[in-house]
Amino acid sequence: MITFENVTHVYNQGMPNQRVALDDINLRFEDGEFVGIIGHTGSGKSTLIQHMNGLLKPTTGRVLIDGQNVSTRGLDINLNVGIVFQYPEDQIFEQTVFKEIAFGPQNMKLDSNEIKKRVTEAMDFVGLPEDMLETSPFDLSGGQKRRIAIASVIAMRPRVLVLDEPTSGLDSIGKKNILQQIHDHHKKEKTTVVLVSHSMEEVTQHVDRVVVLEKAKVKMEGKINEIFERANELREIGLDIPRISVVFLKLKELGYDVKNVYTLEQAKAEFLRLKKHLGFKK
Ligand SMILES: Nc1ncnc2c1ncn2[C@@H]1O[C@H](COP(=O)(O)OP(=O)(O)OP(=O)(O)O)[C@@H](O)[C@H]1O
Ligand SMILES: [Mg+2]
Repeated sequence: MITFENVTHVYNQGMPNQRVALDDINLRFEDGEFVGIIGHTGSGKSTLIQHMNGLLKPTTGRVLIDGQNVSTRGLDINLNVGIVFQYPEDQIFEQTVFKEIAFGPQNMKLDSNEIKKRVTEAMDFVGLPEDMLETSPFDLSGGQKRRIAIASVIAMRPRVLVLDEPTSGLDSIGKKNILQQIHDHHKKEKTTVVLVSHSMEEVTQHVDRVVVLEKAKVKMEGKINEIFERANELREIGLDIPRISVVFLKLKELGYDVKNVYTLEQAKAEFLRLKKHLGFKK
């Protein structure tokens, strides 16, 4: 379990360009949960997640992992919490794709067969062909780099997998596939997953719980259906919600007694229910 207790993070404290990026954050991430972190650009998402493995330290407050302070714990924290950064360039540095993905497992002192196995699995996970292993990651496209970055974290099999906008730069099929892979991995391995996104539509199909950040603070937090009870507030702060949810909000405004909907299956069920009562308003 990871706990944020009154965490504030100030960049460039005391300087003219001082910036409060996190303001008194209290959050809890349970083992085995799939949590979405949503918010506008600049709301503090990347700053927040970098506190989960001690890469950034709170200016005030503390972050605990299984009751121990992340800031004072040893290096093994990196094995427990794997972060895929928002910009793959920040984490890619090896000369070949193989070396890049093998870097983590090598640091874990795994034997060479196990390392090869993990690299193969990780390549498969992100849908890249094995004949790419001897290429330089720097010669690849943005989307391929992103996949390599994800693969190199997956290869370490972290207990907590944190992904900062993992789908940016991928086309819509690529996005869908990667999210599905992460989803299946979470179900199979019971890994805790924290997925950062600026799109509500992207996370709704997968997450158990959502944290909405707005201007360095937690604006909302709850199960996906609880958050959608407040869908209008999401729209007010300018966050996108699934198009199908917009349709149902509109129906509600028109006086129809419909539930909040965020998947096509729910929409279908609601339409069928509505059809039976067609003509009856609330
Ligand atoms: N290294 C830094 N130095 C100074 N200010 C920073 C730094 N990193 C982020 N900030 C500022 O802190 C605030 C939060 O930034 P952060 O990157 O956490 O937001 P974000 O929600 O991840 O945004 P995005 O959706 O654009 O990735 C912003 O105002 C940003 O300008
Ligand atoms: Mg960010």
